[in-house]
Amino acid sequence: MAEYAVELRNVWKRFPGPGNEVVTAVKDVSLKIADGEFFALLGPSGCGKTTSLRMIAGFELPSEGEIFLHGRPMGKTPPYQRSINTVFQSYALFPHMTIGENIAFGLQMKKIDKQETQRRVGEALEMVRLTGYERRKPQQLSARKCCCSTSRWAPST
Ligand SMILES: Nc1ncnc2c1ncn2[C@@H]1O[C@H](COP(=O)(O)OP(=O)(O)OP(=O)(O)O)[C@@H](O)[C@H]1O
Ligand SMILES: [Mg+2]
Repeated sequence: MAEYAVELRNVWKRFPGPGNEVVTAVKDVSLKIADGEFFALLGPSGCGKTTSLRMIAGFELPSEGEIFLHGRPMGKTPPYQRSINTVFQSYALFPHMTIGENIAFGLQMKKIDKQETQRRVGEALEMVRLTGYERRKPQQLSARKCCCSTSRWAPST
């Protein structure tokens, strides 16, 4: 059987609610995501998207079911021992670091050597057309620059 990058098997998450109530945040979710697949979780507010992502990353443990990353059952594996990254909706960038340092951060945590880190940072900047902006802080990028940088992928209207 094919090994998936991410697999959820009958995953449930229940939280204690007000009083003796139980809030079922995720109800019996099973899904398979192949390596390199672009996968979107869509649904109304409160349907359990964030809770599912937090369980995949290891910030929450399922009440029932199992999560597999590259075929390995995660059990109670803590977030720092899972080969997965989460980009949160806010606080995605460290404001005190430059653009270059922000991009390099994950690679440094993984102890990738300096030369390779620089190469990958350069490649990432080039991909989003931000070459030359690596010494700026996130708040020093204008909205216009951000728009121009991503326009390559923006759908044409
Ligand atoms: N720590 C918690 N304790 C109690 N209930 C929680 C907790 N975290 C989430 N919930 C509840 O679980 C349900 C799913 O929440 P979740 O944040 O996963 O939804 P979501 O799909 O990400 O919503 P949104 O689109 O608003 O971000 C909601 O009813 C929420 O109130
Ligand atoms: Mg959410």
